Amino acid sequence: MTAKIIDGKAFAANVRGRVADHVARLKEVNGLTPGLAVVLVGADPASEVYVRNKGKQTVAAGMNSYKHRLPAETTQTELLGLIDRLNADPDVHGILVQLPLPTHLDEALVINAIAPQKDVDGFHISNAGKLATGQKAMVPCTPLGCLMMLRDTLGSLAGKNAVVVGRSNIVGKPMAQLLLRDSCTVTIAHSRTQDLATVCRNADILVVAVGRPELITGDHIKQGAVVIDVGMNRLTRDDGKTKLVGDVEFARASERAGAITPVPGGVGPMTIACLLANTLTATCRAHG
Ligand code: GUN
Repeated sequence: MTAKIIDGKAFAANVRGRVADHVARLKEVNGLTPGLAVVLVGADPASEVYVRNKGKQTVAAGMNSYKHRLPAETTQTELLGLIDRLNADPDVHGILVQLPLPTHLDEALVINAIAPQKDVDGFHISNAGKLATGQKAMVPCTPLGCLMMLRDTLGSLAGKNAVVVGRSNIVGKPMAQLLLRDSCTVTIAHSRTQDLATVCRNADILVVAVGRPELITGDHIKQGAVVIDVGMNRLTRDDGKTKLVGDVEFARASERAGAITPVPGGVGPMTIACLLANTLTATCRAHG
């Protein structure tokens, strides 16, 4: 059996199109333009690329994009001052502080300074707590994108055995909460899990977010499972060129899986699409 390839690029284009239609209606009917502020501290090259893409796609969806680029030596007080101003700005409906931050800045303190209703990343402790307790929350973009693709592939997720490999606050933990909310039986596996292959082979749904290139092989996959690969690992080949690979060994895994996301073109494009969807949600909630 060869797995169906889940086309995240096409899926994301569809989500972005629906967001853009809604934004156009908001403008026409309510005279309202959603605004997303993105804060980048320092010049991490990967972060620069993400922030540029976020800005482009925000504008393409008809929203206002406010970019704040701060030098690497920005102090905590200066960064918190900017967040306070963005919290108070009625034209800014969503705020995203690009991570990682330079090490002299306290990431948790900075994230928790964002007004929870503008926290379009869903990283604020109040949003994490709401998600864990079944209340209406801003949901982190990457797991939200994964959930959309899983629902589209499988319909109802109720009763499925779901294994999430990875326990980060950004992907693993919120992913597990979302799957639990959809009535899956959820296992979180991580670097200390014993016999990972046996744990994974129990999964009808396998979501992998560990940042370890091709950790998951065909051996880890139950026949017919739906596999979502969140990994984006840039490897340098012998000829010096770089290649993007996931956390799943795609060729072998796709011989056993029922459906699988490729890297690139799977989860990646869904993250920004969900960021736009969250910004639209934040705008609608701010205006009743
Ligand atoms: N760095 C890598 N991914 C993300 C993300 O989803 N949000 C933020 N704020 N920073 C990131």
